[in-house]
Amino acid sequence: MTLPSVDTVKIATIGLGYVGLPLALRLSDCFQVTGFDVDLARLAELQSGIDRTGECSSQALAASRLELTSDPERIAGFDIYIVTVPTPVAASKEPDLRAVMSACAIVGQAMAKGAVVVFESTVYPGVTESLCGPALEKASGLVCGTDFYLGYSPERINPGDKVHTIDKITKVVAGQTAAVSELLVAVYGRLTNGNVFLAKDIKTAEAAKVIENAQRDVNIAFINEVAMIFNQMGIQTQDVLETAATKWNFLNFKPGLVGGHCIGVDPYYLAYAATQLGHNPEVILAGRKINDDMAGFLARQIDRQIQNLSCISKPTRVLALGLTFKENVPDLRNSKAADFIMSLQKMDHQVDIHDPLADAGEARALYGFDLLTGLDDAVAYDSVIAVVPHAPYLSFDSDRLRKILKPGGLVADMKGIWRHITMPAGYVRWEL
Ligand SMILES: NC(=O)c1ccc[n+]([C@@H]2O[C@H](COP(=O)([O-])OP(=O)(O)OC[C@H]3O[C@@H](n4cnc5c(N)ncnc54)[C@H](O)[C@@H]3O)[C@@H](O)[C@H]2O)c1
Repeated sequence: MTLPSVDTVKIATIGLGYVGLPLALRLSDCFQVTGFDVDLARLAELQSGIDRTGECSSQALAASRLELTSDPERIAGFDIYIVTVPTPVAASKEPDLRAVMSACAIVGQAMAKGAVVVFESTVYPGVTESLCGPALEKASGLVCGTDFYLGYSPERINPGDKVHTIDKITKVVAGQTAAVSELLVAVYGRLTNGNVFLAKDIKTAEAAKVIENAQRDVNIAFINEVAMIFNQMGIQTQDVLETAATKWNFLNFKPGLVGGHCIGVDPYYLAYAATQLGHNPEVILAGRKINDDMAGFLARQIDRQIQNLSCISKPTRVLALGLTFKENVPDLRNSKAADFIMSLQKMDHQVDIHDPLADAGEARALYGFDLLTGLDDAVAYDSVIAVVPHAPYLSFDSDRLRKILKPGGLVADMKGIWRHITMPAGYVRWEL
């Protein structure tokens, strides 16, 4: 089967979320691209020039040649399909591959002989060839490896990060055959000025992605565990890290909440695959457990500090700054900040929540929280807690904190963003 030429390929991207939209836009600089999504509201938003993920500007959307559709017929007979749909975990923490399977059904019906289907969604090793290949065969009636081909290219972008964008990071690719690999190196090379790494095979590329995130998770879990120990010892973890970081090979990870749908999820994919093979993934799961327990641990520490305040009133009023799963993104899904706030509420604290990036309707729908619309009316809290280090919170000074705190209140700094601030005597400080 002859593969298409890089100069004439028509590409369809399947899934236009945090990963798919920036990818589709970048691809459309170089190729004829149609972005497909099943979410009509998302498509309508993008058609009106709004990307609620904050990854792509209205100007970039308006200037691009990217076609958008929810109609499978408009992606029929394309040369390359790139799948960027979500890969969450079920309540059991097992991989939930329903979106990937549904994408395979859609692509399988749309594609013709000679197509290449590339998966960018994060999966465990083997999913592309053992599950997606057969699902595509079933939907298309074609034979994988003869009539159509598979590829895998893990997505490494980091939402909110305007430095490590698609065009500036090494893109890993793998193809089912040497010719497919060659085509993918050429296609992705156009996006990255040739900065492409050809992995040995599809399984290797899948495995590389999943360990990139599992490794971060385990490293953060180690720092979270030592933070718990130092907390008992009355030692400031941030001071310890600053000191240890003076050694050339000390790894610079920070303690804190690990939420979202990558670092807190992908290790479960690897753990599931390991378990299927009869291997108990002890380190991976221990890391997950520690990181998942962090929200409760932090709530207990801050509760204890609040109970010891001399200015305490009942019910205590607390201001939580930040609700999204990490800093400088609007993404509220699987936010451990939400778990932390719910733990404080269960301890009878009245918690007001502010987040400059989160969508108020989504916060209500996902967690039942009403967000403050601003901080101007926020006064006299027993405690102000920096939960998510969004950029606007970094510029707070002691005047700003005094305006929203009771005299003698608690400044709780989960990420050490206010370490440089000196508060007047009487205020209590806590940091992880
Ligand atoms: N967000 C990240 O930071 C990040 C980074 C690297 C890799 N990844 C991986 O990339 C993948 C996508 O993640 P995301 O954050 O972009 O997800 P997302 O939820 O932001 O977007 C996924 C999009 O896919 C659409 N979709 C779902 N099912 C579909 C289907 N059957 N057909 C067409 N569209 C469908 C959804 O409507 C949504 O718009 C996941 O596997 C994730 O693990 C994410």
